[in-house]
Amino acid sequence: MTTLHPTSIGAASPRLEAREKVTGHAMYAVDRPMPGAVYAWPVQAAFAHGRVAAVQTEAALGIDGVLAVLWHGNAPRLEPGDDPQMLVLQSPEVAYYGQVVALVVATTLESAQEGADAVVVRAEVQPADTVLRADHPDLYEPETVNAGYPGRLETGDFEAGFGVADVRIDATYRTPIEHHNAMEPHAATAFWERGRLVVYDATQSSTTMRDTLAALFELPPQLVRVHNEHVGGGFGGKGFPKPTAVLAAMAARLVGRPVKLALSRTMLFAMVGYRTPTIQRVRLGADAKGRLLAIGHEAFAQTSRLTEFTEQSAVISRVLYGAPNHTSRHHVVRLDVPTPTVMRAPGECPGSFALESAMDELATAGNWDPVQLRIDNDTDRDAEGLPFSSRHLVECLRRGAEAFGWSGRDPRIGSRREGRWLLGTGVASSTFPAITWPSTATARATADEHFHVAVNAADIGTGARTVMRQIAADALGVPTHCVEITVGDSAIGQAPVAGGSMGTSSWGWAVTKACLALRERIDREHGGRVPPEGISVGADTTADIAARGDYSRHAFGAQFCALRADPRTGEVRIDRLLGVFAAGQIINPTTARSQLIGGMTMGVGMALTEQTILDPRTGDFVTSDLASYHVAVNADVPRIDIEFVPEDDPHLNPMGSKGIGELGIVGTAAAVANAVYHATGIRVRSLPITPAALLSYSSSSTGA
Ligand code: MOS
Repeated sequence: MTTLHPTSIGAASPRLEAREKVTGHAMYAVDRPMPGAVYAWPVQAAFAHGRVAAVQTEAALGIDGVLAVLWHGNAPRLEPGDDPQMLVLQSPEVAYYGQVVALVVATTLESAQEGADAVVVRAEVQPADTVLRADHPDLYEPETVNAGYPGRLETGDFEAGFGVADVRIDATYRTPIEHHNAMEPHAATAFWERGRLVVYDATQSSTTMRDTLAALFELPPQLVRVHNEHVGGGFGGKGFPKPTAVLAAMAARLVGRPVKLALSRTMLFAMVGYRTPTIQRVRLGADAKGRLLAIGHEAFAQTSRLTEFTEQSAVISRVLYGAPNHTSRHHVVRLDVPTPTVMRAPGECPGSFALESAMDELATAGNWDPVQLRIDNDTDRDAEGLPFSSRHLVECLRRGAEAFGWSGRDPRIGSRREGRWLLGTGVASSTFPAITWPSTATARATADEHFHVAVNAADIGTGARTVMRQIAADALGVPTHCVEITVGDSAIGQAPVAGGSMGTSSWGWAVTKACLALRERIDREHGGRVPPEGISVGADTTADIAARGDYSRHAFGAQFCALRADPRTGEVRIDRLLGVFAAGQIINPTTARSQLIGGMTMGVGMALTEQTILDPRTGDFVTSDLASYHVAVNADVPRIDIEFVPEDDPHLNPMGSKGIGELGIVGTAAAVANAVYHATGIRVRSLPITPAALLSYSSSSTGA
């Protein structure tokens, strides 16, 4: 593949839309003024399992301003596709608490809400089974797990390797239900115009949303257009299509006006997905020198009655370290709960808490330094035997240890004290796949030497359009100010989701290809001068990606945490975090740093505060607001330093880039938990490490 000579790539650059955003001019999904627009508000099931016997709408319809109440008896019919979650208001069956059972449309938001309160839902309620347990009788092993990985992988003989190990760890870890909580809720504006459907949706992929809506409403895709020019955060919650746009489009068809629907914070908890709780058993066996002989990782997760989604929690153990004997497998159970979905680093994020806590426990048991133990178990192949395209985990660990001041660490528990605080430090490794999917892009030159590049990227707050412009400028051989970038519109052309940390690499390759082809045509066919009518070139990377060699492609990193804990109150305060990452060519150090700090910040929330409590009697998520579900805010976020280890990988894409959106959250929680152990001697195997949790551990366990 062609390699670029980076000029704009690698240069720190602020976001192009920063001013628009901070001045409030950026338009999100329901922000656009639209004459005649009306408002929709859902009615949710207040039971987790059963069927709707009747929906009484008279009282709601009598309220001033209420135009319609949609329910399964009168809603427009949808064509069933492969995702039953999208078939809203199509049947009386209820599969989880909070499922939408009616939708009120009114001329004002307030009358829609009043109308929703007045709708009476009569139900036949069945007992609900809502709690994940590792001994649930309905657990099964899925063939594949999220992102298409095989559910089970075995190499060598795990039991034999584990059996002869000199030092063994067998421990079970738990992570709770977590919610994405992007600032912009799931929201959509929809209207119909001469048989065409136009939607403004809070989605990480307007291409997928366009195709999904087209299939549901039985329209050719070119009659559906989805805009997502600005998206206020996603974290995976807006990665797969969600029913918001479907509901708005159904309502718009029924009332013949544009409909705006923005879910409330509380509705988000039940209606648009979450991270499954996990139970993970990790078994590690090492020889007397600290070389892993056996890695075993068994993960349990839940899914819904509607569809199978299995978090790939054990997959990280196929990548992070080498061992001749390996087993990793997944179990899932269908419960009367909403369907879980991808959330920042699905699989690797909860998986790293288990594996990287277990590595710390192994280091303690063998009396090895936790950094050195990780270095000693580096590998050049993954558990499937594929060579890594590039891998600089060891460099990240070494550089991190040096920058953090790890070498002076006293390994003894509770050896440092400051007043009421016990001080501790911890380390964990990070990794995330470097994925590239096919994309299209177009590049156009005008006679005045300006360039317009369009790629259907979704900028969910990451700086996507900013880095696309840097990539385009280098491929065209011009300064960035000569390039205009358009993103966030399904009409631009097919492009993959802003998810799986694949956006920059996938879109950027198509942008590079289109721009190089445009430059070539200008030079070869037009002697270096753009003709008055301009020139336009399109590109598609499907064949280029298929032609790549077989490699295991991943980014790596090392995270270090220094914290203090008060064993009397259970408080944990993080003093500082350091992340050192090797993620290929960094396109823009400013936005990259922001992604990694953001990931680590979310990791702090995961470690210390984030959890959604489900009431097993009802199946309701009872902590469904930002007061009871505490995401890390400024006061919780310590000093976070980021460093990059330079990495040149020729097996990725023309930019040499790996994804960074998810890498930062992988390992953070383990680094924190390992530091809590170092400070206090309390090994917390269940997140989050709240004061109550730490106190209950200290009274019930002795630590190591
Ligand atoms: Mo990310 S969880 O793949 O949007």
